[in-house]
Amino acid sequence: MRSDSYVPRPAEGRLGILLPGLGAVSTTFIAGVELVRRGMGRPIGSVTQMGTIRLGKRTENRVPPIKEFVPVTELNDLVFGAWDPFPANAYESAINAGVLDRHSHIEPIADFLMGIEPMPAVFDQRYVKRLEGINVKPGTSKRAWAEALRQDIRDFKAKHNCERLVMVWCGSTEIYIKQSAIHQSIEAFEAAIDADHEDVAPSMLYAYAAIMEGVPYANGAPNLSVDFPALLQLAEQKGVPVAGKDFKTGQTLMKTIIAPGLKARMLGLDGWFSTNILGNRDGEVLDDPGSFKTKEESKLSVLEHILQPQTYPELYGKFAHVVRINYYPPRGDAKEGWDNIDIRGWLDYPMQIKVDFLCRDSILAAPIVLDLALFMDLAHRAGMSGIQEWLSFYLKSPMAAEGLYPEHDLFIQQMKLKNTLRWMMGEDQITHLGLDYYLEDAELAGV
Ligand SMILES: NC(=O)c1ccc[n+]([C@@H]2O[C@H](COP(=O)([O-])OP(=O)(O)OC[C@H]3O[C@@H](n4cnc5c(N)ncnc54)[C@H](O)[C@@H]3O)[C@@H](O)[C@H]2O)c1
Repeated sequence: MRSDSYVPRPAEGRLGILLPGLGAVSTTFIAGVELVRRGMGRPIGSVTQMGTIRLGKRTENRVPPIKEFVPVTELNDLVFGAWDPFPANAYESAINAGVLDRHSHIEPIADFLMGIEPMPAVFDQRYVKRLEGINVKPGTSKRAWAEALRQDIRDFKAKHNCERLVMVWCGSTEIYIKQSAIHQSIEAFEAAIDADHEDVAPSMLYAYAAIMEGVPYANGAPNLSVDFPALLQLAEQKGVPVAGKDFKTGQTLMKTIIAPGLKARMLGLDGWFSTNILGNRDGEVLDDPGSFKTKEESKLSVLEHILQPQTYPELYGKFAHVVRINYYPPRGDAKEGWDNIDIRGWLDYPMQIKVDFLCRDSILAAPIVLDLALFMDLAHRAGMSGIQEWLSFYLKSPMAAEGLYPEHDLFIQQMKLKNTLRWMMGEDQITHLGLDYYLEDAELAGV
């Protein structure tokens, strides 16, 4: 048992969830929460809403729902705000996204959705080439933009009478930006904002504004946004949790389920070819080579980290890994993720696995937005700050402390998440050793 210093404060009052980007994922998330609140839908895929957690020994039968074990904010206490360079409100944007059934899931909550109007965005077309925004903040000064975002955050909090806020980036994927000198310290980054440096992307200004206002920030896209030393130092300094990046949905979710299984059984891998066809706005943005490169980097690293080719050169030393994303408008949000996996078994006999995942991108992403928002707020109330590695479970390219490799295996990530919750609440960790059920001397079993 540890000291009580990390037990989260109770979730009193309203929690405002601020979303840069009011597109397919955001509207599916917001509408979903409202439908659940009205008893018109179920929050499937959300660990905070549907998950349980085992406490103590298997013989104790203590398995409370997670939302009763840790004080996460109740859905009724959530309010939503967003920024978007398109002026469409959440109702229009949800219809446009084509994810939810208009008759059963949009019209019944039309009034509620129409009330969510996007604030003018900090947007610059150089970073998302396929979009042209009209609902944008004036000027081009990055400092003025950052200050305007900070003012929006304060105004939103006051107007909606929020006790606390969190921000989850659900904006488009920006172009690939490599970390440079301006990202290495708070001073260098602030100077770069003042100098309108081109390596300061809009998403970084949202992250900066959030942290400066003491608001936890999670990045759902693969672009560089909060994952560099300057903003990580700032987050530590301000006592703010941050997480990222890139929601783990669809094909990568499948990859991080299947690859740990192959490795656990010491089956070899010759190659993994992944192709995606999708037709939503995200697909259109990813059709641009700059945005695709950002996504590709995020998707490619997963297998290397799970399979550890250096440790298992015979099995994983030289597999081919190819990822393709193709914009194919007829598909809309119902993406098709198609995988061909060439594996090798006993005496090197080759085998193949084919996965054709007819998935719905935003349906998989919405519960992640909810869980990330609720857990980031929980972490904040527990006094945690900086990178929240225990939320890697939700992310394709999880951030980790310097010198640590990121953990991609979904099952290790899940154990990390649940053990963090146990740790917060002063419960024993569960190692799954279980020898104490068989050995008479529990001391010897190391329990
Ligand atoms: N399963 C998934 O859907 C999934 C998985 C992983 C990551 N993502 C990422 O989540 C993000 C959102 O996905 P989506 O399907 O909702 O895309 P979308 O295109 O429907 O929505 C993105 C919205 O962000 C807005 N936007 C762009 N730049 C902005 C800025 N500077 N400020 C505020 N808003 C801005 C766009 O106008 C658009 O409305 C994308 O970056 C996507 O790559 C989605």
